[in-house]
Order: sequence, then structure tokens, then C-alpha cells
Amino acid sequence: MKRILIFFLLGFSLVLVKCKNSQPQSQIEVTSGIDAESGLAIDPNLMLVKGQCTACHSAKLIAQNRFTREGWKDKIIWMQKTQNLWDLGESEPAILDYLAKHYAPEARASRRANLENVEWYKLNED
Ligand code: HEC
Repeated sequence: MKRILIFFLLGFSLVLVKCKNSQPQSQIEVTSGIDAESGLAIDPNLMLVKGQCTACHSAKLIAQNRFTREGWKDKIIWMQKTQNLWDLGESEPAILDYLAKHYAPEARASRRANLENVEWYKLNED
């Protein structure tokens, strides 16, 4: 009888462990490197960007664009001048780091590499 009870308890605790592991993951989906909620790249500065940059428009507007650090800075200045974006203060360098790291022009995945060593031929134009 005692044995049966021990087996029962063991089995029960295994079921408990299984349930605990199969719980849904938190909102941040780590596997793909993309935050499931915003569609933005996962990074230590992501929360800062989400906090400062998604109040007025979708994060998609950010993810769709590619700029250099200077280009992002210009966009921020433009939004501050024309769209009532506030002064980002001490957060600005970290936000620019994030944007320049993940949304730089060369980071666009769909862009093909430049052709190299191409021997162009002359068109006969007669
Ligand atoms: C105070 C509101 C506000 C905040 C906060 C804000 N933006 Fe914007 N942003 C706008 C508006 C308004 C537009 C124009 C939207 C449109 O054209 O539909 C815009 C446009 C953009 C564009 C598109 C620019 C283009 O040339 O098409 C990008 C990229 C962008 N924002 C990035 C950011 C980033 C990065 C942050 C965080 C630093 C941010 N925004 C925070 C208001 C804001």
C-alpha cells in the first residue's frame, strides 16, 4: 500500500512539472530575435524604444525603415519639430544605438549583395 502511494505521488508530481513547463512563454519570443508584441528586434534597449517610440504610431513604422545613425537622428529632429515628439533626453543615445544597430541601411535582409567583378559588355548601337 505504501508503495502504491509513493508511485502515485511520484506520478502526480511529474504531471505537475509537465504542466509548469508547458505554460505559455512570456510576451517576448526569444527564439526568433523579434519581439512578438511590437515586431521590433530584441535587444537590451528594446524596452526603451518601445516606451519612447510607439506612443504615436505603430512600431512597424520603425521596423520598415532603414537609416544610418545620422538619418535616425534627423528623423527624431523632424518629429520633434513637426510632430510634437518630446526631448528624449538621456535616452536618446541608447535609442540611436538601437536604431543604428538593428535598422541600418545594410541590415535590410531582402537586399541582394552588390555584384562584383562583372565584365560588362558594350552594346552595339548602330
Ligand atoms: C509624439 C508622437 C511621436 C513619437 C513619440 C514618435 N513619433 Fe515617429 N512619427 C510621428 C508622426 C506623426 C509621424 C508621421 C506618421 C505618418 O506619416 O503617418 C512619424 C513618423 C515616423 C517615421 C517615418 C518617417 C518617414 O520618413 O516616413 C519613423 C521612422 C518614426 N516616426 C520613428 C520614430 C522613432 C524611432 C521614435 C522614437 C524615438 C518615434 N518615431 C516617436 C510621431 C511620433
